[in-house]
Amino acid sequence: MASETAQGSFWMPPEASTFAGDVDALFDFIYWLNVFFFVAITGAIVYFAIKYRRKSDDQLATSQVGHNTLIEAAWTFIPLLIVIAIFVWGFRVYLDQSVAPDGAYEVKVTAQAYAWSYTYPDGRVEQELVVPEDTPVKLVMASKDLLHSFFVPDFRVKSDVIPGRYTTVWFEAKDPGEHIVFCTEYCGSGHSAMMSKVVVKTVPEFEEWLKSSGPPDGMSLADWGAQLYTGAGCAACHSVDGSQRVGPSWKGVFGSERKMAEGPAVKADENYLRESILQPLNKVVAGYPPSMPSYQGQLSDAKIDALIEYMKTLK
Ligand code: CUA
Repeated sequence: MASETAQGSFWMPPEASTFAGDVDALFDFIYWLNVFFFVAITGAIVYFAIKYRRKSDDQLATSQVGHNTLIEAAWTFIPLLIVIAIFVWGFRVYLDQSVAPDGAYEVKVTAQAYAWSYTYPDGRVEQELVVPEDTPVKLVMASKDLLHSFFVPDFRVKSDVIPGRYTTVWFEAKDPGEHIVFCTEYCGSGHSAMMSKVVVKTVPEFEEWLKSSGPPDGMSLADWGAQLYTGAGCAACHSVDGSQRVGPSWKGVFGSERKMAEGPAVKADENYLRESILQPLNKVVAGYPPSMPSYQGQLSDAKIDALIEYMKTLK
């Protein structure tokens, strides 16, 4: 049952999930209600200011104290009805968004500075959230370190991701396509790079994908590594052109002698690089803070191989 994903407008991203339209309808209602009252109230102020302005220098002020029960009742009860309507409407949309349908496909989301990873029911861990279309997907989310926030504008889905506690969201994507995931809680120097993708596939394509491992079709290991460099969040702290970031640049790292903060120098071979990804605090390069999070359990062996292959190309 494929439906057309409504295109985004100048103001709004596309409505790519089943409840995006409900969220936008409520937003539009509140927006136009505000426009209406802004024009009506400001218009009345301007009209009365002109109509009742002081017309001559010797005009005396007269008492303005008056009372009209009908008008006062109207401007109390009409707004009351409007805010009750907004509350009921908003609460319904909120409940729809909060409670995932029974049997939703569940994916675990892990946030860490500065990357997202997605763990599937069979244990595979991905850097992109791949989901089937027309299927409710529930995300159970937690953070490894500090406060992040998971935001997919095209789905109108947003929730804080907190250490030591699970938060959940769900959505049903309407059509195959790609959508951006943002971190929308300022979490440190790499916050703006903490992005990932939702890839919506047709159900048969998704099932095919679930069985696959290794690089996408026709992609070399090094090219896959280049993709993971941004996808897995490495780019937040490591440049590939020799420029300074939080961690050492990857340019020329493979095969080089690394001076350690403690202990003897180490040659950056495959084993050293693998260890630095999985247990980054074992060997910290001199001059850099010991701040890299461990990627243990976040990257498959095939992906670590791909990252190392990519580093080898950065001469
Ligand atoms: Cu994570 Cu901002």
